[in-house]
Amino acid sequence: MEATRIIFLLVLLCFLKMTVTTAINPCCYYPCQNRGICVNIGKDGYECDCTRTGYYGVNCSLPYFWSRIHKFLKPSPSFMHHLLTHYQWFWNILDGISFIRDSLMRYVLTARSNLIPSPPTYNSDYDYLSWEGYSNVTYFTRLLPPVPKDCPTPTGTKGYKELPDVKFLAEEFLLRRQFIPDPQGTNLMFAFFAQHFTHQFFRTDFNKGPGFTKALGHGVDLSHIYGDTLERQHQLRLFKDGKLKYQVVNGEVLPPSMKDVPIRMKYPDVLPVEKRLAIGNDLFGLLPGLMMYATIWLREHNRVCDILKHEHPTWNDEQLFQTTRLILIGETIKIVIEDYVQHLSGYYFKMTFNPELLFSEHFQYRNRIAVEFNHLYHWHPLMPDCFVVKGQEFAYENFIFNVDILMKFGVEALVESFAKQRAGRIGGGKNINKNILHVAINLIEYGRQLRFQPFNQYRKQFGLTPYKSFQELTGETELAAKLEKLYGHIDAMEFYPALLLEAPYENAIFGQSMVEMGAPFSLKGLMGNPICSPDYWKPSTFGGKTGFDIVNTATLKKLVCHNVKNCPYVAFHVPHNIDDESERGKKEPSTEL
Ligand code: HEM
Ligand SMILES: *[C@@H]1O[C@H](CO)[C@@H](O)[C@H](O)[C@H]1NC(C)=O
Ligand SMILES: *[C@@H]1O[C@H](CO)[C@@H](O)[C@H](O)[C@H]1NC(C)=O
Repeated sequence: MEATRIIFLLVLLCFLKMTVTTAINPCCYYPCQNRGICVNIGKDGYECDCTRTGYYGVNCSLPYFWSRIHKFLKPSPSFMHHLLTHYQWFWNILDGISFIRDSLMRYVLTARSNLIPSPPTYNSDYDYLSWEGYSNVTYFTRLLPPVPKDCPTPTGTKGYKELPDVKFLAEEFLLRRQFIPDPQGTNLMFAFFAQHFTHQFFRTDFNKGPGFTKALGHGVDLSHIYGDTLERQHQLRLFKDGKLKYQVVNGEVLPPSMKDVPIRMKYPDVLPVEKRLAIGNDLFGLLPGLMMYATIWLREHNRVCDILKHEHPTWNDEQLFQTTRLILIGETIKIVIEDYVQHLSGYYFKMTFNPELLFSEHFQYRNRIAVEFNHLYHWHPLMPDCFVVKGQEFAYENFIFNVDILMKFGVEALVESFAKQRAGRIGGGKNINKNILHVAINLIEYGRQLRFQPFNQYRKQFGLTPYKSFQELTGETELAAKLEKLYGHIDAMEFYPALLLEAPYENAIFGQSMVEMGAPFSLKGLMGNPICSPDYWKPSTFGGKTGFDIVNTATLKKLVCHNVKNCPYVAFHVPHNIDDESERGKKEPSTEL
């Protein structure tokens, strides 16, 4: 009796002593402010490395004189956003003054890119700088290192020991109840462009894990058009006049079938081989929208080859191919900045693609794709509830892997239809179609496996004030109360769910954090391309003035209309006249068109 009592007391004492002396890794508290680096010292000490942060003190929280001035003068992101999305008359005047416009664009590019470390720093296995982390490009890089493994909670010290059930989260907060159209008028032409364009550098290598990538070019290399290995590229090439292989079906130029180009592609087993189209990215058979863009770019490649061949009759196949590829990279970046980002931003300020703006700056012409950028770009709410082609409705099960849609309707009709169909609003929650909700479920799970730091840490990293409450994050009270119950603390809120649940800007496709975090990754990736560097950015790189002009005048509309017979309506937004009053409203019924 007495013995058991003593043993019990001993065990209790032991336990108490353990909880008292097992010190928590102080870096779990994220003590270092203003992008200072936390280093664990001894058993329970830490040091903040404040080098070049502009701040000093134990936690890098005390500003030097110039940082104080800078902080005081720097306009807030919401103020800037308001300015850029209002006062059209002002921006119209400014557009005519190239000196000011250029300075502003230079500021946009440098201020955004400076938030991205270059050369890259961490990855999912290295939370400190290392040669392995730098040199092994099979990893996605990471802006913020993983949460230390010995922290008391999954996101550090705040919140509960267990994060909310992922399936419940997705079904409660992300699942679409009724289609919410994007108030900026974004269409499916945009949505499929987004997916097509980004999947050249977002290709998670799930065999290795969610922190690894198969896209080793880490940027705009057009591997989705030309394949990611030399072998695949050679299979896709005609080896005549620099061109890619193609086939003509009912007068339409299409990618070759796998009968002629036996490369690895993902298709359902039942699909006969002659219907399987062979293109750079092995997954693009999935959606007619992706195959449509693949076809457009294939035609554009062969069109540019003809132009170059005409100018350089002595050039061999290889030089025609390689130069055309650089021209297409240039066209892509031009279109992404001046059509795609321009539309997405909703800015009245007219953005320009001009690499010369950065020649006077310290800018590194390199890029490494971050896993946070990949997560941020899961814009599945864009997808509608069904796809309308020439008035015919396709449910998901009839649209996915349906190669006949492209074959039957042709590029022109697909462009016309996708340009007129509204895409869903990305931000604000409850707008992911049930057929693709599993993608979001998996993604949140990967974020946990990768030990992503909490959302507020990312806010700080991008120079934004951390949210103080769930109400502040969502801009309402109902969802906020539910989230608070699930997470316990706003500093435990996760990265991806927060991005989708953040209150969108007024009449905008998403909220502040998506803009402030997405833009730096995006612009750094676009301008970090070698063709933007001083030794590349000249006419000779693109085969002379003609090629350089193709790059410098590229638009989405030209890309399409140079490659179809009759030019349809082409844009990244639905036509302004088809639903004028609902253009800015939210009460549109769930039918598209
Ligand atoms: C009906 C349309 C779509 C379907 C069926 C679909 C389906 C999928 C699937 C199955 C995955 C892989 C998820 C996993 O294995 O964990 C994925 C990944 C992804 N999706 Fe979508 N998606 C669609 C549209 C879009 C759109 C419009 C975007 C816009 C940008 C997008 C962006 C992404 C991104 C960035 C990834 C990660 C890719 C990677 O790292 O490998 N998706 N999607
Ligand atoms: C630094 O941060 C730690 C942990 O957040 C806090 O306890 C401490 O008071 C701070 N020290 C100073 C000097 O600000
Ligand atoms: C990169 O790291 C992974 C994981 O440690 C390893 O399997 C792979 O061999 C490395 N790749 C190279 C090229 O070193």
